Amino acid sequence: MSEPVLEVELPTRRATIHLARDLSAELGSGDLVILSGQLGAGKTFFVRAVARARGLRESERVTSPTFSLIQELPLEPPVAHADLYRLSTGPAVAQLGLDEMRDLGHLLLVEWGENFVAELGGDAVILKLCSHPRKAVFSCTGPRSDAICRALQARLARLP
Ligand SMILES: Nc1ncnc2c1ncn2[C@@H]1O[C@H](COP(=O)(O)OP(=O)(O)OP(=O)(O)O)[C@@H](O)[C@H]1O
Ligand SMILES: [Mg+2]
Repeated sequence: MSEPVLEVELPTRRATIHLARDLSAELGSGDLVILSGQLGAGKTFFVRAVARARGLRESERVTSPTFSLIQELPLEPPVAHADLYRLSTGPAVAQLGLDEMRDLGHLLLVEWGENFVAELGGDAVILKLCSHPRKAVFSCTGPRSDAICRALQARLARLP
């Protein structure tokens, strides 16, 4: 696993919503964000906040797709939200074709995906959410994710 490059404290839900908005501003078509962290750490909450920041209507719900595995959110570029909690092998993940969705331009947000970076097409921003105390820890696995994390860091440094 790559080294942490950025850590952000998340004492309130509002802080998480702001971080999701700031990360979202650096994300585009074909990017991959993997959300890790224990049950209830805030992975779905974070994905929901990213989706709202990108303009998802309130009438569209964002829920943990633990059973359906993939939820497509009607945004531009389209966002695919996946939850791999129930999958344990690389081939099972590869079969979902999430890397192809990425190639076709989806922004991919994946809960429980940290063991499947290669099957998801590589070069991932890995966002680990911790709950005691609540914080986000970022690491990256390639040049594009590295650039995203650096841009996020610069954006956060500019904020008051
Ligand atoms: N600072 C915070 N940031 C994010 N969520 C918070 C925060 N404080 C409290 N919460 C609450 O923590 C819960 C996180 O639940 P969420 O479903 O997002 O977890 P999850 O990591 O997706 O769990 P699972 O592994 O079951 O999918 C939500 O009920 C949210 O309101
Ligand atoms: Mg979840």
